[in-house]
Amino acid sequence: MIAILAISPDPAHAGEIGRALAGADSHYQVRTSHASPADLCSHKQELDGVDLLLVDGARMRAQDFDALGSLTARHASVTCVLLTPEPSADVALRAMRTGVRDVRQWPAPREELQHAIAEIADRIQGGRRAAKVISFVSCKGGSGTSFLAANLGFAASAAGRQALVIDLSQQYGEAAFLVTEATPPATIADVCMQIDRLDPAFLDACLTRVSEGFDVLAGAPDPARAKEIKPEHLQRIVQLVRHRYDLVIFDIGQTMSNVSIAALDVSEGILPVVQLSLPYLRGARRLLDMFRSLGYGNDRIRLVVNRYHRKGPLGLPELEKTLGIRVQSVIPEDSESVSESINQGVPILRLARGSGVAKGLSALALGILPQQESSGDGLLGRLFRRPAAARA
Ligand SMILES: Nc1ncnc2c1ncn2[C@@H]1O[C@H](COP(=O)(O)OP(=O)(O)O)[C@@H](O)[C@H]1O
Ligand SMILES: [Mg+2]
Repeated sequence: MIAILAISPDPAHAGEIGRALAGADSHYQVRTSHASPADLCSHKQELDGVDLLLVDGARMRAQDFDALGSLTARHASVTCVLLTPEPSADVALRAMRTGVRDVRQWPAPREELQHAIAEIADRIQGGRRAAKVISFVSCKGGSGTSFLAANLGFAASAAGRQALVIDLSQQYGEAAFLVTEATPPATIADVCMQIDRLDPAFLDACLTRVSEGFDVLAGAPDPARAKEIKPEHLQRIVQLVRHRYDLVIFDIGQTMSNVSIAALDVSEGILPVVQLSLPYLRGARRLLDMFRSLGYGNDRIRLVVNRYHRKGPLGLPELEKTLGIRVQSVIPEDSESVSESINQGVPILRLARGSGVAKGLSALALGILPQQESSGDGLLGRLFRRPAAARA
């Protein structure tokens, strides 16, 4: 998703730019505003989540350029493009000094603007770090794998990132229902059945949108439908979603198959979920042995202890010693908040933000998420390398 904000002192201009782009690509999220660059400096939240800022430069004054300079310095992750009726070398140079990445002509035929923005949007997406892919695996049924996977997706979106949960758990597509009451428009089985149709728009239509920045690809409704999913389908889905999300989370569940192994193969992090009791410990040992035989090194494994309480039959040090692996994350027991969250289909970070479970999930999300990219120093080089763009 590319979040675009178009600003112009003239609401009609802003509207015109917005309309030119709104329908051009389903991945554009376009907002318009008649705020000036100086207004944006004093209302920083206006730029929250914005990837691309289009500034109508038809009536740019010196103080607008100054304000633009402060904006681009403060919001390194926002790509700023100046639209101007006269994209002369002078204007380009001035814009460049303020940290503007590109200068394009406007007014111009709609298709020209759409084409220019598509190019810039591609650069933004290409420059984004590819999504981190992780998998939650259950050491034994009921360990809380689906609950944690789904709620970690929400925690990532609450931290301003785009997250996708792909439910492979073969538990009747329940991951989505843990965090939303929305009925999934389709499931992963539907996507795999029509894999030849897979493109961004088709995938979009199949996803359950839980909240801004958080989608779930619901699980197959029954084991028979789950058989539609093949490892090569999963690889195609991952290829497509990699550049669209910051975090892709598989809920593998308990069942190991060639499909779950395909998901584990592409996962940078594997998170077995265990509770502190002997049956889980046995399950965890079996799972870790299997990971070893599949060639997954301990550096990829992040053991998660769920439903932790101090008076449990087993302590953390004992668990670590027996399994020969460090615990990465501890999520406390909190039956009340967790049941309420599940029963209402509302993520726990929304329902009980201050709960230990919500805090544990936020910490886990922050530990896993790649650091936000800064745009680096590519600006000058690009403007100089692409003088045609500035003159176009
Ligand atoms: N931290 C927790 N505190 C209390 N109960 C929890 C916690 N995590 C999970 N649960 C409970 O465990 C149940 C099973 O969770 P689920 O995610 O479906 O497990 P799995 O997917 O591993 O089978 C949930 O219905 C929930 O009631
Ligand atoms: Mg599950």
